[in-house]
Amino acid sequence: MQRLSPTFTEALSEATRRGLLSLGTSRRVVLAARLGAASGLISGPASETGLESASGPGPLVSGKVLASDLGLSRTAVHKHVEYLRALGFAIEAVPGGGYRLVRPFDDLLAAEAVLPFLLGQVEPGFAWLAGLPYRYAEVCESTNEALKSGADSLPSGAVVVAEGQTKGRGRLGRDWISQRGKDLTFSVLMRPSLAPAQAHLLSLSVALAVSEVLETIPGLQEQAGTVGIKWPNDVLLGEKKVCGILLEGSMDVDRLRWVVAGIGVNVNSDPTAVRGAGAEWLGRPSPTSLKVCLGHSVPRAPLLADLLVRLTKRWAELEATDLLQGIRERDVLTGRRVTVFTGPPENEPLVTGEALGIGPEGQLLVRTVAGTTVPVFAGDVTVQAMQAVE
Ligand code: BTN
Repeated sequence: MQRLSPTFTEALSEATRRGLLSLGTSRRVVLAARLGAASGLISGPASETGLESASGPGPLVSGKVLASDLGLSRTAVHKHVEYLRALGFAIEAVPGGGYRLVRPFDDLLAAEAVLPFLLGQVEPGFAWLAGLPYRYAEVCESTNEALKSGADSLPSGAVVVAEGQTKGRGRLGRDWISQRGKDLTFSVLMRPSLAPAQAHLLSLSVALAVSEVLETIPGLQEQAGTVGIKWPNDVLLGEKKVCGILLEGSMDVDRLRWVVAGIGVNVNSDPTAVRGAGAEWLGRPSPTSLKVCLGHSVPRAPLLADLLVRLTKRWAELEATDLLQGIRERDVLTGRRVTVFTGPPENEPLVTGEALGIGPEGQLLVRTVAGTTVPVFAGDVTVQAMQAVE
């Protein structure tokens, strides 16, 4: 049996003790992680004890070893396997032999499929990640709404993921349209020790975390152009938008109580087929997806796991100087003629002028025709003709 790191299993046990993950979910995460590690789908330690050779797509993992390792009867192991199958896992049971994965589970989004991908990433200080409170829904109105409704009682790091949303929301009251079962729509809860005036740092840090993860996808930038950030938090591939971020929060007079970061990544959909490209995107980048750019599908479970890890690390280092540097390196607005709105575009704009870059507190600096530099801390930016100012 491929052993899992003690940090990983301890994090799951701790999450179960604290009531963050049900015992059943935690056991199935371990089961899925072991089957995944045995088939080489997820990285684990090299030890191979307990694996039995058999013909077929992947090595069999003995039911007896699984049972003793999970502290369960073989019947209970079988029930958990049945549950995993109902979630979409393709697991073959060989009588008298054991179990094996016949297909990867890397495009499923239930906790049982995503948390195993944290196996190789659980470092000291971030061990709790393996047992993060994770709620999965086939469909919900909006993951932001679902998480906000429980935000007062849930711990920092809680995640809500849905295969599809019926009322996905974008910034400034716009809709967010994703394709069920194809994209990533999820929200994460944070309890940062920040003053409300610093909330925009969170927004920038989410955009940076997403960009950093997308930059690790092989071939993406070669195919689609560089990953860029359109202040404050649209993530672009070349000139097209691949990810939108909506932060919503609750605050007391002098501190943020919680913030929900809602993230929509166009992964395997074809956004132009769903939404159409063109006039409605005037001044704003038209949408694209990872699949459209790469020409092949991207498995969503490891991508989501990477995003959760990167987000957590970025939030742990909000004051780090490389946050602004990272944003500046990816900023697509500098040198362009922009108009900033704080409400719908039919409202009076806040300012129009040339984007000068990102200021020391993460604000967008805009120079008006009169030569005044206006710092903007919140707003939506439209770009005139997405081309550099002469
Ligand atoms: C935007 O670019 O306008 C922001 C889009 C944010 C979309 C995400 S999808 C998950 C979460 N739930 C929502 O209803 N919206 C956010």
